[in-house]
Amino acid sequence: MRRTKVTVVGAGNVGATCAQRIAERDYADVVLVDIVEGLPQGKALDMNQSGPVVGYEPNLVGTNNYGDTSGSDIFIITSGLARQPGMSRDDLLQRNKEIVGSVAREAADRSPDAILIVVTNPLDAMCHVAYDATKFPRQRVFGMAGILDSARFRAFLAWELGVSAKDVNGFVLGGHGDTMVPCVSYTTVAGVPVEQRISSNRLEEIVQRTRDGGAEIVKLLAKGSAYYAPAAAVAEMVDAIVLDQSRILPCAALCEGEYGIDGLFVGVPIRLGAEGIEEIVEIELNDHEREDLGKSADSVRELVATLAQV
Ligand code: LAC
Repeated sequence: MRRTKVTVVGAGNVGATCAQRIAERDYADVVLVDIVEGLPQGKALDMNQSGPVVGYEPNLVGTNNYGDTSGSDIFIITSGLARQPGMSRDDLLQRNKEIVGSVAREAADRSPDAILIVVTNPLDAMCHVAYDATKFPRQRVFGMAGILDSARFRAFLAWELGVSAKDVNGFVLGGHGDTMVPCVSYTTVAGVPVEQRISSNRLEEIVQRTRDGGAEIVKLLAKGSAYYAPAAAVAEMVDAIVLDQSRILPCAALCEGEYGIDGLFVGVPIRLGAEGIEEIVEIELNDHEREDLGKSADSVRELVATLAQV
């Protein structure tokens, strides 16, 4: 039996950490691609040499050649410029449009049946770029952001309440930007709505810290942006696909009427399994959340309009 083949494009911090987490699962062969000569080869060699210690097959390939990616089952696009301090995700638009477009075309040419996971920022806009470049069905092109934003929200809530993060459930919808929508009404601690445990003022502060979660890390690192939690979120999506788990996870998916949004990639709960998106799950939102999701979709729409011009 052939092992699943996962290609990760971009051997920077996000891409390399994704490759590491996926290799450690030991259910797939991983190809790490980058344009910088030696970088993917060196990182793959180093990760392969951890295999005997950690307990996975040393099957990573580091390469500058897309020929090595042929026949991939999953293609993860992390390549692009990272945010620098003071730089908004949207500033990255033009440069990353070119990079993601060309990577997605390579993916479509050599791995026509692959599932594409987009990670490059600005995330929602880059999903549009990959979707347009590949002409893949929407089931097979989607983006990672909601799991990351939700993980930040869950970590902050766990600290606030002094409970295990495992017992905090909740999700963040909308675009991966300042207008993201943490769904407080569906956020629970061991099944109990979080609104019963934390005052609304304090909750609003935690929601705001979640919205600023990426920027907080950019500021601390002074150069570069987050990668441990982003890579963990990608690996959770890869698990859902490789193990056909039908997980309900917030991801950037192309809405075609769901949530009253048409023709836009926005963070929504999806059911994710071996075929990619099995369903966009429509949950009932309160008036406040519905309005915020609409605003968030508007900001993605503006970005997509700008995308057409850059
Ligand atoms: C973040 C960046 C990577 O949210 O978008 O950390």
